[in-house]
Amino acid sequence: MSAPGDTARFTVEPGGEVAGELTVPGDKSISHRALMLGGLAEGDSEITGFLAGEDCLATLRALQALGVRIERPQPQRVQVSGQGVEGLTAAARPLDMGNAGTAMRLFMGLLAPQPFDSMLIGDESLMRRPMERVATPLRLMGASIRTHEGRPPVEIHGRPRLRAIDYALPVASAQVKSAVLLAALSASGRTRLIEPAPARDHTERMLSAFGVEVLREGASVALQGGQRLRGTSVAVPADFSSAAFFLVAGCLAAPRGLLLRNIGINPTRTGLLELLRLMGADIHVHPHRQDVSAGGEPVADIEVRKSRLKGIRVPESLVPLSIDEFPVFFIAAAMAEGETLVRGALELRVKESDRLAAMAQGLSVLGVENQLLEDGLWIRGGAALGGGTIESQGDHRIAMAFAVAGLAAKSPIEIRDVANVATSFPGFLEIARSAGLLIESP
Ligand code: S3P
Repeated sequence: MSAPGDTARFTVEPGGEVAGELTVPGDKSISHRALMLGGLAEGDSEITGFLAGEDCLATLRALQALGVRIERPQPQRVQVSGQGVEGLTAAARPLDMGNAGTAMRLFMGLLAPQPFDSMLIGDESLMRRPMERVATPLRLMGASIRTHEGRPPVEIHGRPRLRAIDYALPVASAQVKSAVLLAALSASGRTRLIEPAPARDHTERMLSAFGVEVLREGASVALQGGQRLRGTSVAVPADFSSAAFFLVAGCLAAPRGLLLRNIGINPTRTGLLELLRLMGADIHVHPHRQDVSAGGEPVADIEVRKSRLKGIRVPESLVPLSIDEFPVFFIAAAMAEGETLVRGALELRVKESDRLAAMAQGLSVLGVENQLLEDGLWIRGGAALGGGTIESQGDHRIAMAFAVAGLAAKSPIEIRDVANVATSFPGFLEIARSAGLLIESP
């Protein structure tokens, strides 16, 4: 985990080609949810393909602190003995979510209806992130939650009798939606949420896999309180957001093609495929025959080949569907002929770092003409990338995006403060090297 003054860094030599076949670790969003729903279920659950990254391990440890028995016979295989929706017990200490925004926000919904108090804390980056977006709808349900100027620590005074709400989400956020759905499990009545645009729907799919009836109609999702969850097995697909680095790497430097195996292709996650195709990328998706894995998620192999990319104006409707992929998308844009413009992406400013500012700054270091906008970024692509030292701001996705940029650079790139890559993509360095990136961590 990143600490102030962290010295972990990547050095990337310019050039190289990527080729062959690879897969990436399990999906982060799905792994968090499988643990949480497993803990709330009656009976045992088994999770395979679990992401053993720091973020999901924070969720795992927090559930253990709340009295859930969890065994991990192998790094990617987890057995959870469910306690039932009412079976958790108070943690002795504040629950430390590390760098994981998803863990903190979903736990707010999960803990608000418990008959005990909880306190949520995190690392330096997480302690700066907005939490009122989750606290507001939960308070409408009767929850008692205190943030500090909108940020963690989050103090939850458990209130077992929450009431259902009808709520229009002001932002397209799967974390807010999921927190409310988790609280709604113990609320009296039927909770209904309306989304301004579709955000990832892993919670809804997984609740169904655990036997909960979730009603989805157009932009609304509804759930009747008081339902029980039944333990089940969940096969977590490889994380599309981790595969994204290699999709772009393939577009830049895979003349013989690169095959990514067993990747989750939930349509609420794969906006980057559309964006790269609009840019002219040569990408083929081969869905698996058994078209959904346990847990209700579609899976595919994805083939990508070096392509001549052209700049695009990003359709705003694709922003929530590719929200975590913008750092690496901006690297593709820097290599695409012409101008690329992204607007309506204000959310990028409140991720693990301000991703618009961090990417604008890093692209400038590499000599890419760009303009930082209030809610987006403009980039003129197509010129060769230079080298230099990039500040990742302790943000895993910024660090990995600039590692991919090395494939198109003319000079070495040094990326600082990269320890947090382990939050979402343990083993990134080894996988990247095996694919052909000229990367080291001295
Ligand atoms: C996530 C939702 C998204 C995403 C994050 C994971 C989730 O955040 O950026 O990395 O697992 O629910 P928002 O809900 O803030 O959009």
